[in-house]
Amino acid sequence: MEVRPVRWEGEALVLIDQTQLPHRLVEIRYRDWREVAEAIRRMVVRGAPAIGAAAACGLTLAAEAVEAADMSLFRQRWLEAAEAFARTRPTAVNLFWAIERMKAVVAACDSPHEARRRLREESEAILREDVEANRAIGRYGQELVPDGARILTHCNAGALATVGYGTALGVIRAAVEAGKRVHVYADETRPRLQGMQLTAWELVQEGIPVTVITDNMAGMLMRRGEIDLVVVGADRIAANGDVANKVGTYSVAVLARWHGIPFYVAAPTSTVDLSAADGSAIPIEERSSEEVTHIGGVRIAPEGVHVINPAFDVTPADLVTAIITERGVARSPYTQSLSQMVLASTGEAR
Ligand code: MRU
Repeated sequence: MEVRPVRWEGEALVLIDQTQLPHRLVEIRYRDWREVAEAIRRMVVRGAPAIGAAAACGLTLAAEAVEAADMSLFRQRWLEAAEAFARTRPTAVNLFWAIERMKAVVAACDSPHEARRRLREESEAILREDVEANRAIGRYGQELVPDGARILTHCNAGALATVGYGTALGVIRAAVEAGKRVHVYADETRPRLQGMQLTAWELVQEGIPVTVITDNMAGMLMRRGEIDLVVVGADRIAANGDVANKVGTYSVAVLARWHGIPFYVAAPTSTVDLSAADGSAIPIEERSSEEVTHIGGVRIAPEGVHVINPAFDVTPADLVTAIITERGVARSPYTQSLSQMVLASTGEAR
């Protein structure tokens, strides 16, 4: 089954409601851009590339809703929507990348009518290009996966976190398509459980063997020699190769280094932020304490306890064996290899 978490159906944007998986596969249709922004904030749609794609489609809906005969009024009103999307989630740079791409379209248009048409085309291009990029990431990445590999992944970097196919799971899918046998270990990924609820669901759908582990089991498995490589996605990669991804990724990377296991990051060049010199420039989202104190709406922590809930952490580039992009496999020194890949993709887009 091809999972498409973000897609156009006629005039409506259709999102898979990821808060209901793995129990129910529910799609929600959107015509109102404000509801799309809320869906990103509530994590109905989540995962860096999927957030960017949903925002691009939301900004297309916003253009269709703006009533303005002249271009300067149109621009002013539409930019309010762009600002609202920029406030939904702070870490995944694909959101800001998509907003900037849509802004460039509006800047180049002479009339609201033209802007509406060209924004829709741009959103369609963003959806199409993301799947193409993920397939290319898969092709490059699968070469790093030996036959029989036991692969650990964290969070969900699958079809659900993108427009389709996935980044880290794209590498795994491509390895399977190349005839390799793999076994995936999915960290459950507290507090939102994307590994258990989304990664495991996707892999079960496709018949790829998967074992769910709690986040604190990875070290024990590595010590027993039961993990051959790690592959994860990313929310923002700084120019020097520092990687922001779901909290817990850093711990996995440290464990992998200690045990001599390759640690790969799979992400499109739209996740690379060359304006962030290193990981310290990446804003880390702090989410509600209820995500930690509650599971499935049931309180599991004592009243009065202090809680922190940073949604992401930063893995220093030193711990990253390679970064797999749609332009090829970047290796240290990342400042050079990543900027070459980003320039190659922006050059082609022009
Ligand atoms: O908070 P989320 O679920 O949006 O976080 C998602 C992740 O951290 C993913 O691993 C990352 O976005 C890569 S998606 C291909």
